[in-house]
Amino acid sequence: MKFFVDTADTAAIRELNDLGMVDGVTTNPSLILKSGRDILEVTKEICDMVSGPVSAEVVATEAKQMIEEGNKLAKIAPNIAIKVPLTWDGLTACKAFASEGHMVNVTLCFSAAQALIAAKAGATFISPFIGRLDDINLDGMQLIEDIRVIYDNYDFKTEILAASIRSVNHITDAARIGADVITAPPNVIKAMASHPLTDKGLAQFLKDWDATGQKIV
Ligand code: E4P
Repeated sequence: MKFFVDTADTAAIRELNDLGMVDGVTTNPSLILKSGRDILEVTKEICDMVSGPVSAEVVATEAKQMIEEGNKLAKIAPNIAIKVPLTWDGLTACKAFASEGHMVNVTLCFSAAQALIAAKAGATFISPFIGRLDDINLDGMQLIEDIRVIYDNYDFKTEILAASIRSVNHITDAARIGADVITAPPNVIKAMASHPLTDKGLAQFLKDWDATGQKIV
């Protein structure tokens, strides 16, 4: 399973990247706002740091303008994946970008039907938003499962990029189902290393070690 980091915070990306845990990065307009940086400048910095796909999102809503924006974003670096929303115009732009050999991440996917049509339009990645479905009492993980079945039935090459991840369980469930990629905030990725029994066990070992009066170095 590939790990993408869902942030435009370059310090956080660098920390995980130095541990070899970053296969790619996803950004969106809200994450650019949060970074307080210029989109072209921060995206270039991320692309220079990470060798895998870096998603940069268009903000136009009509295909023609989306294509103009996407072409500008694609010039930032060869590892840009142009991110388009799952609308008819977004799919039109997706097809155009895919035909030119660009990677395309089709985002804001909330149904299996949307995922199917995005694959037909040549999406490199489909981004089903798990957390936002769970937020309205729908089952985000069921959507990942449905898309996996459909893509496997017809051998679609579009990769399932499980997005809007809010918890460690989202990551392990997506991995169990067979999502190709997850994109998660840095704090959720770091939380994967934590377990209360690890903390408890370590505290006991350290207490007992103190009692031995020994030193290793
Ligand atoms: C994916 O590419 C999106 O940037 C992201 O996962 C959205 O997550 P959110 O629902 O937590 O904003």
